[in-house]
Amino acid sequence: MFRSIRLYQRVKQYPGPPSDSLFLGNTQPARRMDRHNLFTEWSNKYGPVVRRRFLDINILQVTDPAIIAEALRSKELDKKTVSDALNYFAGPHALPTLLTAESTERWKVVRKAVATAFSTANMKAEFPNIRAACSQLIEVLKTVGPQEVVDMDNALCRESLDVIGRVGFGKDMGATRSLRDSDTSGQAMEATAGALLEADRRLTSPVRKYQFWRKDVQEGDAITKRFHSIMQGLVDGMRKEQPAESSIAAHLLSIRDPETGKPLDDKHLLPEVSTLFMAGFETTGHTAAWVVYAVSQHPQVEAKIVEELRSLDLLATPKQPSPRPIQWEDIPRLTYLNAVIKETMRLYPAGGVATFRRSKTGKDVVLGGGKLVLPAGVGLHLPITAVHHTEGIWENPNAFTPERFLEEGAEDAKNVPEVAGRKPQRFIPFSIGARDCVGQTLARLNLSTTLAQLYGSFTFQLAAEMGGPEGVRASEITSITLSCAKGMKVHAVARVKA
Ligand code: HEM
Repeated sequence: MFRSIRLYQRVKQYPGPPSDSLFLGNTQPARRMDRHNLFTEWSNKYGPVVRRRFLDINILQVTDPAIIAEALRSKELDKKTVSDALNYFAGPHALPTLLTAESTERWKVVRKAVATAFSTANMKAEFPNIRAACSQLIEVLKTVGPQEVVDMDNALCRESLDVIGRVGFGKDMGATRSLRDSDTSGQAMEATAGALLEADRRLTSPVRKYQFWRKDVQEGDAITKRFHSIMQGLVDGMRKEQPAESSIAAHLLSIRDPETGKPLDDKHLLPEVSTLFMAGFETTGHTAAWVVYAVSQHPQVEAKIVEELRSLDLLATPKQPSPRPIQWEDIPRLTYLNAVIKETMRLYPAGGVATFRRSKTGKDVVLGGGKLVLPAGVGLHLPITAVHHTEGIWENPNAFTPERFLEEGAEDAKNVPEVAGRKPQRFIPFSIGARDCVGQTLARLNLSTTLAQLYGSFTFQLAAEMGGPEGVRASEITSITLSCAKGMKVHAVARVKA
């Protein structure tokens, strides 16, 4: 406590929201389901460095792209989990994973193995599987009439689940064969979402794990255990079935634990599988659903996507009701659609409340040429959503304008000096530096392939039950990843009647 007061004295010169609890400090993030938006409000109100406290932890929130560029590449800083909530999500022993571990020897070997699985050559080899998952989804959507309401968030998470099943674990999850919540994939998705929600609640409320008498905590615990048992099934299958050489599973099985020199045992393998399973479908599925939402509100944007698809012969027409199958070579040619995806990831970054760093040397860290001195023991919070929405970093930050990404240098911050020989980035949906998203090549490929195929055959109209843009805005929820609490209910209207 005395240390916390001492550290507070060192950061109190920075502006920040008043504490709303003498003991807990700033509890506002724990009370808002859209805490990603709260961090933006603070950035716009208090500036690029905002001070806050939670219990005995002093935190500086930074949205200055130059400081972020330096911090995320600094060897003096490391990831440091404030809570073990995500470790508890990943496995019963609550061990650190590829996502949460400090940059230890074990993290290095796991990162290297997984990164190899995402090589361009492997992605190219997996491209037909990605295309097939979406084609299957299109067949299911064709059986649903335009009057019916479809939850495209659920449908697109299913599509991403099939992709990670194939690419990651060499397994046909069968998720896009139906849209019924009761099927095996529906149950796995429900368990993942439930366990993530419990993890998110524990992350923002460290006392929650001790409140075992509460019914909602017991339910969260039960669904987390169910998630672990589904993941154990996946691990057992990996060990039995000798997954394809290029899969993430094969790469995970080939890892030698630097501490024992032996392959990873289940205690260590299961949390890595859980993390990759969750990160593999939740993030990409929700992002694709945000694209469907954003495009449904901007007909002029959809018209340009349609024109691009037509020019590439990827659009369903009365003469050609099934467009030609999309090819690997088409992906870079989808210039406008790729800009739409980027603009959606700017406004709705799936990992929007990430990321945290702390000094790993026990010494203060000077950043931004002295603009910020991070005292050892103070947390550094670099919230992606806030960077993407702050006035001054972007022009009209709340407007959905894909065209901004057609301009050269659009991803770089303006009017800031270079850091280590390059312009600091202001567009960081996958984070940057050594701890950036290891699955981003797959995520990008899946998003472009899937959305090109979907818009080639369908147009999507937001269902009335979503309550229009206000209803969607009011239902934004960060449950580790960003989604809409109502799902994304739409009418899927085929471009060409069957
Ligand atoms: C649109 C999709 C995705 C987005 C927006 C996204 C975003 C991110 C972000 C922001 C981070 C940094 C998190 C932090 O610093 O705390 C991250 C890390 C990570 N992502 Fe993704 N991700 C996506 C898809 C994927 C996929 C498809 C996979 C795997 C199949 C994946 C696996 C991971 C892993 C394992 C890490 C931790 C890497 C490390 O710390 O070494 N992600 N992702």
